[in-house]
Amino acid sequence: MQVDNDKNYLLKAIDAFPHRMVVISSDYRVLAARGHLNATPDAAVVGRLCHEVFFHRPDPCADCAVKTVWETRQPAWSHRRDEISGAEKVSCLYAYPLLSDGVIEAVVSMELDLPPRTRVEEQLQRSNALLRNLITSAVDGVIAADRKGKVIIFNDAAAEIFGYTVTEALDHLDVRNIYPDRMEREVMRQLRNDAHGGRGKLRSYQVDVLHRDGSRIPINLNAAIVYEGHTEVASIGFFHDMRDTLRMKKELEKTQLQLLQAEKMASLGKLAAGVAHQLNNPLSGVVLFTKLVLEDYELPSGAAEDLGRVLNDAERCRETVKELLEFTRQTRHLMRAHDVNQAISRTLFLLKNQALFQDITIETAFDPRLPTVHSDIQQMNHLFMNIILNAAQAMSGRGRLTIRTAYAPESGCARIEIADTGPGIPPEVLPHIFEPFFTTKDEGQGTGLGLSLVYGIVENHGGRIKAFNQPEQGAVFVIELPITPRADGDRSREQET
Ligand SMILES: Nc1ncnc2c1ncn2[C@@H]1O[C@H](COP(=O)(O)OP(=O)(O)OP(=O)(O)O)[C@@H](O)[C@H]1O
Ligand SMILES: [Mg+2]
Repeated sequence: MQVDNDKNYLLKAIDAFPHRMVVISSDYRVLAARGHLNATPDAAVVGRLCHEVFFHRPDPCADCAVKTVWETRQPAWSHRRDEISGAEKVSCLYAYPLLSDGVIEAVVSMELDLPPRTRVEEQLQRSNALLRNLITSAVDGVIAADRKGKVIIFNDAAAEIFGYTVTEALDHLDVRNIYPDRMEREVMRQLRNDAHGGRGKLRSYQVDVLHRDGSRIPINLNAAIVYEGHTEVASIGFFHDMRDTLRMKKELEKTQLQLLQAEKMASLGKLAAGVAHQLNNPLSGVVLFTKLVLEDYELPSGAAEDLGRVLNDAERCRETVKELLEFTRQTRHLMRAHDVNQAISRTLFLLKNQALFQDITIETAFDPRLPTVHSDIQQMNHLFMNIILNAAQAMSGRGRLTIRTAYAPESGCARIEIADTGPGIPPEVLPHIFEPFFTTKDEGQGTGLGLSLVYGIVENHGGRIKAFNQPEQGAVFVIELPITPRADGDRSREQET
């Protein structure tokens, strides 16, 4: 009796259920139906295919919950959307299996209404998604944090700058830890005063931040405090990585310095040329007349010796003047294709028997396929002689001199490296070594013309010269000279005769 009562109540409950309730077989046929079926009597749908009756589709729906139940033997649900008078009705189809002795006999499908979502809600959601997208794809790192420092927004660019994944940052990162030396306090102090763009704002503030690996990254920071009424609730920062900008600025400064150096060399060169011209004629007179006196007169031996010294010194002066003129391109050059390896070998041959070179090991690594260089051989000899002599002097006659040559196809140049194991060039001296008359040597030991001459020669040949200190020991001079262009455009191996 009690059982009949229970069943009655259950049947009444099913009757009172204000939505559709359908029992469906494994081949999607309606076995029983109850509820509002688009004005169709319940009995009229029994035996028909559910997708045809309810959804007017020839095949089962793609996201059919009933199908999922048949496949998984578990309850399942799927969404349905209907546009009804501006508001969107979202309903859900809930399906569960009817089991008999562990075997699915049929599936029950019930339609349940979900609270309707208005257009306003939908638009809000869309604009939220757009904002999220904007932040995620921003070029600068964007980080927002609540008052306790917990990160609440962390975009992809921030992940790239700081080295944390977005999830790591959102889960564990405290925004205070992205600044070194407790700089976050200073940033907040600046944010709260008026100095950088008004209270609660910070514009173009230069600050270092900490990468996950501990390295510092220079940043241009724009930030703001987020207020609710007068209460601070969060802060947001836009982090612009300054590494590329600073690198470019440095490059520019270096180029400007090089330009300045080239200008200085040019004006000093002009000055030197003027002085050389003025000295050249009287010096020739001194040399000529000293020779005449020595030849034409019977002089006491002491006087002849003294005059001989005058002649020697005058000739040395003339050499210097000649070098000055060379430096400023005042002499005529004979340009031909020359083998640089041979030019260096010849200079070494002249120098290696000198006392200064007795305790110097000379190592050479010449590229046997080095193309020739269109050059004036006299000037080439001067160039190598000066650099090699400087190296030997820097090593005080003891050490190792290494000379390498190679073809640098990317610049179309013959590359010559001359390295020594001396003390190297002090950083404060390095920017001046190519200036005429710059020397660190004692009076009488050096004129300071050697490297200025070298610079002029390399420039005349359309090449480049640089001096560095080696990491281990000593200085290295790197010279690049353009190779001889051939009529057929190929690199030349024309030999010097
Ligand atoms: N290999 C080197 N190692 C260390 N310092 C060097 C080297 N080569 C040149 N220098 C520095 O550069 C300066 C300028 O060299 P440069 O050849 O122009 O003049 P100098 O050798 O002093 O005199 P000069 O060559 O006229 O006799 C030198 O005084 C020296 O301080
Ligand atoms: Mg020198």
